[in-house]
Amino acid sequence: MTVKKKIIGVLTSGGDAPGMNAAIRAVVRTGLEYDMRVLGIRSGYNGLIDGEFVEMDMRSVSDIMHRGGTMLYTARSEAFLTQEGQAKAIRFCQDAELDALIVIGGDGSYRGTRVLSDAGVRTIGVPGTIDNDVSSTDYTIGFDTACNIATEAVDRLRDTAQSHQCCSVVEVMGRHAGYLALNCGLAVGASAVLVPEVAWDIDVLAKRIRNRSLNGKHHHIIIVAEGVNGGAAGIHAGLKERVDMDCRLTVLGHIQRGGSPTVMDRINATRMGYCAVRLIEQDTGSRIVGMRGNDVVDYPLEEALAMKKELDLSQYEMYEVVAK
Ligand code: F6P
Repeated sequence: MTVKKKIIGVLTSGGDAPGMNAAIRAVVRTGLEYDMRVLGIRSGYNGLIDGEFVEMDMRSVSDIMHRGGTMLYTARSEAFLTQEGQAKAIRFCQDAELDALIVIGGDGSYRGTRVLSDAGVRTIGVPGTIDNDVSSTDYTIGFDTACNIATEAVDRLRDTAQSHQCCSVVEVMGRHAGYLALNCGLAVGASAVLVPEVAWDIDVLAKRIRNRSLNGKHHHIIIVAEGVNGGAAGIHAGLKERVDMDCRLTVLGHIQRGGSPTVMDRINATRMGYCAVRLIEQDTGSRIVGMRGNDVVDYPLEEALAMKKELDLSQYEMYEVVAK
């Protein structure tokens, strides 16, 4: 009796994140090692709906490890939010006889896997987003690279801020969370870090800058998470009215999502991609892979989606002590 080869699909969904390619590579190579057929689904859930996929072989993932972005393309699929789109996606999975689908993305992408899971399609989630805001993991693919890119960009801005003795207000991404802002702020030694998780006041902030200027600090870096009320533009406008120095605004935008992934992102992406396929090999389905400390872990989908994650406020307190 011949045993049917397992067929697995892999897609990337949501915002691209450096290291997604390393995860795809690990999935493809591990799948082939276990004698599976691996289909690369293009453009996230849109690819399931439109039946856009490529057959992956050993060489189709060569030379991608060091590249940012995702070789499979990605999307925030509007169509998949509709019942019609979901029905088409489910139909595709059935017609392609997928034994499992690996979704590399953030929390929003995981909610999509729930729809598929409910319809009997086994799914495994792998966390990929620069925001690090996925509850079921301490670490998401792309976060480390984005922190490094943002830090490097702010280091450059500091040269100008120092030379012109001005105040540089920098907006970093992170959606509703402050992980990226806090880590970047810690790494650059910012004068202030504003995150959605911690209350702030423009008068207090302006006073802090004025006092530090009196204490001999003649340039300031203010890191603002995009999720902060009013955004960096609001902070910039407020400071301009309150401090007697030139204030400049820089929004890093997609700069911090691109670039070659760090070693940490490449290795963790590889470990989690490998784990995802091992779970399928063991006939386990509807789980979310993640990291606790330095360990790769996995949870049932519903348990993972119900988890809560909060910014480590002790880190913020430490930042406040050392930022003077
Ligand atoms: O989730 C990654 C992220 O870069 C967030 O930090 C940001 O809020 C969002 O995506 C921006 O999305 P888009 O590139 O679709 O505007």
